Amino acid sequence: MLWRMKTALSELARRTAAPPISWLIATALARPKLISLAAGFTDDASLPARAVRDSMHEVLRSPKAGRAALQYGTTAGDPRLRELTAAWLRRLDRAPAARKEYAADRVLITGGSQQLLYLAAEALCDPGDIVLVEDPTYFVFLGIVQSRGLRARGVRMERDGLDLAHLKQVLDSLRRSGQLRRVKLLYLVSYFQNPTGITTSFAKKAAALKLLKQYERAAGHPLYLLEDAAYRELRFAGADEPSALAAPGFANRVLYAGTYSKPFATGLRVGFGVLPEPLLTAVTRIKGNHDFGTANLLQQTLARAIASGRYEKHLGELQKRYAHKAAVMRVALEKYFPKEVQWDDAHGGLYFWARLPRGVKTGVKSRLFRAALAADVLYVPGLLCYADDPARAKPDNEMRLSFGSASEANIREGIRRLGMVLKKFLPPV
Ligand SMILES: Cc1ncc(COP(=O)(O)O)c(C=O)c1O
Repeated sequence: MLWRMKTALSELARRTAAPPISWLIATALARPKLISLAAGFTDDASLPARAVRDSMHEVLRSPKAGRAALQYGTTAGDPRLRELTAAWLRRLDRAPAARKEYAADRVLITGGSQQLLYLAAEALCDPGDIVLVEDPTYFVFLGIVQSRGLRARGVRMERDGLDLAHLKQVLDSLRRSGQLRRVKLLYLVSYFQNPTGITTSFAKKAAALKLLKQYERAAGHPLYLLEDAAYRELRFAGADEPSALAAPGFANRVLYAGTYSKPFATGLRVGFGVLPEPLLTAVTRIKGNHDFGTANLLQQTLARAIASGRYEKHLGELQKRYAHKAAVMRVALEKYFPKEVQWDDAHGGLYFWARLPRGVKTGVKSRLFRAALAADVLYVPGLLCYADDPARAKPDNEMRLSFGSASEANIREGIRRLGMVLKKFLPPV
């Protein structure tokens, strides 16, 4: 009898699809002449090598302190870094020192904010549960949703963020269909959203929390707002919006995910969460099983960088640099893109989001995408940023363009090449 070997992989492992971005990165690496406006990488030329070296040197200078940094730390993170992180958030949100929502003991240091997003999903959601996401949203979060067997519902966006009327519609329809009990959280990339660049106003975040609260009785449990503030510090125009933690009376429903990647050094892979109980305990325990703590040496290096003022100095320079790179992309878009393509100016973050006329497809299988590749320029197709939501078809006429990692010359040339390709695909007016 023939004996067939079965896979030993878990359901989760079998379900987990290859991240779409790995294909995009592999494509970029395989074509040396290709200009990638797809990568979400940060600006290479300004990475703070000296600030990190000096900070790490200070950590390791004395053998005693050096040995402490080379030992395991606690799962929750380096106490000094947790203090400094809490103080930074209080400053950004103009919150009084006494507010317990901003206490250092609510801060959990994680392996990038990506780990916090994963842990939050792991702590709150079982397979089949539903997360509400922006339409479109950060595609790596959609990877977590897919891998963990969760379902997603998209909520439309407006110029100032989430469309609250649509959020209500979605919640109502889930209630009607008896699925509200499966809803656990609303995931919001609230500052210079990846991919659209949109910032959700504080008023809207507070209103979304109020709305979620009204559905808790029907859901039978708390409904959380997971606020992903990965790009908050990368503002180069206008005033900062307070985080959802500042919404009076709702902080026990907010999970705030922040990072030191984008504003300082992506390679350190240090991020953080601010969490209410009982989530803080649950997430810390699960993190303990993952890694029992983010790299201590890197946390202490970061704490030195912040305490010495190097972090803020670097951030100031970085904001100017991204303002410049965004301006380079804006000028190129004005010059080279056909007028039928719509896009909004960037005030922070790393992205422009371009909307083509309906019917002009941008997906990886589209003729336009292949023509762009042939012209040696890569973008992120908008399609990848939409959740599998049975309530609507995914738009397929958008693209994300990043000014993060490409040089100024490559931004100009990349947009010029893409503009040439677009002109061939847009119907004449
Ligand atoms: C919206 C968003 N959230 C979270 C992350 C994760 O970043 P990190 O893990 O480096 O903090 C990214 C990275 O690109 C992102 O774009």
